[in-house]
Amino acid sequence: MKVLILGSGGREHALAWAVKRSERVTEVVCAPGNGGMAQIARCIPADLKDLDSMIAVAEAEQPGLTIVGPEVPLSLGIVDALRERGLRVFGPTREAAMLETSKGFAKRFLQRHNIPTANYAVCTSPAELEKAIDIFHAPIVVKADGLAAGKGVIICQSRRTAMEAAESLFAGTLLGEAERQVVIEEFLEGDEISFLCLADGKHVAPLVPAQDHKCIGEGDTGPNTGGMGVYSTDAMLDPGMTEWILHHIVEPTIKGMADEETPFTGVLYCGLMMTARGPQVLEFNARFGDPETQAILMRLDSDLVDALEACIDGKLADTELRWSQGASACVVASSAGYPGSYEAGFPITGLDDAARIPGVQVFHSGSSLKDGQLVTSAGRVLGVTAAAATLEEALRRAYQAMAEIRFEGMYYRRDIGHRALKKTK
Ligand code: AMP
Ligand code: GLY
Repeated sequence: MKVLILGSGGREHALAWAVKRSERVTEVVCAPGNGGMAQIARCIPADLKDLDSMIAVAEAEQPGLTIVGPEVPLSLGIVDALRERGLRVFGPTREAAMLETSKGFAKRFLQRHNIPTANYAVCTSPAELEKAIDIFHAPIVVKADGLAAGKGVIICQSRRTAMEAAESLFAGTLLGEAERQVVIEEFLEGDEISFLCLADGKHVAPLVPAQDHKCIGEGDTGPNTGGMGVYSTDAMLDPGMTEWILHHIVEPTIKGMADEETPFTGVLYCGLMMTARGPQVLEFNARFGDPETQAILMRLDSDLVDALEACIDGKLADTELRWSQGASACVVASSAGYPGSYEAGFPITGLDDAARIPGVQVFHSGSSLKDGQLVTSAGRVLGVTAAAATLEEALRRAYQAMAEIRFEGMYYRRDIGHRALKKTK
């Protein structure tokens, strides 16, 4: 079977790597892919912001399975478009992806189905927001309704700053595009967990949990990024808590979407805050997480393609996912200046030595090939990922591999997973 993967980041590199391990797969094509993916797959140009460009690639390649990595193609309706053309594609329809693409839709959906989430108001004008904000106490969380590549959430220490943030979202001065709706919600405290599940419209299968490190700086300081590292262990959630999350959050979400005639097929990524009152939904994503996927897939022992096909065919209930016990961790190496402006085009060295360390895979987030040499091409450049029997060992391997790698301005956090290590000591 030929598999087409749409995307160009570390998540898609990990997907390509996992798909290649399936005995049924004869060819992996990535559109557009990146320098790392080009080493294991054929890469062809595609514009992920242009539906016609992606349709043209799929029509030309006629893959047996297409996997959609990022959210923008989902928001454009790539799944609907490929299905209409008789192609098999893993991911939610444009309407089902609204769980991610409209925070207002997601919050109202959560409330309609009694799924735990922070108290909120969805407002369509600054005047409406001014009225609603009265019952909120600082800190207040202000969110853009639409996709914002991680830049749409502002935590405000007063009602006045929350009003200002909301006004700049409505005016379009913060994100470049004016928001028609803005969500305000209460600030929640606790540990964040990324709880991802496969869904076939009716049934769900949880993936192993993971914890992302969103801030650029060590000790969780500085601005938010797309994710600077992640780890996954069995001990992150006990079986009772996993059951609770499935029964009170994931299953009602999938049932609610089916009841509302927008069945959800694909990955339901629940961003959860583990508060004193129990887990609460911070956000949904309608896709695999990045860098969560790099760490999660390193622990998957069963065939990914079988599982994704079971989702498409509504047969997830008959499919078993098998995981290796222990832990995995992914440490992201980024360009100097990220998440602000940065330079690209610097040669990357040491990748072969890094890959020789047992249990290590280096997934590329932003690299390209220039005259046969791998060079940096984005803010997040590499996700150095390792699996082992313990989190300590997985981290040791990832950092040992990282020490082999060099590019100008390379930066990485040295404290990925340390919160978890402290708790177990
Ligand atoms: P989101 O895009 O909604 O996941 O928000 C991005 C990040 O903002 C989350 O991963 C949290 O760290 C933070 N965040 C979002 N909503 C809240 C909230 N209600 N309380 C505290 N932190 C939040
Ligand atoms: N790591 C966060 C995300 O994929 O949205």
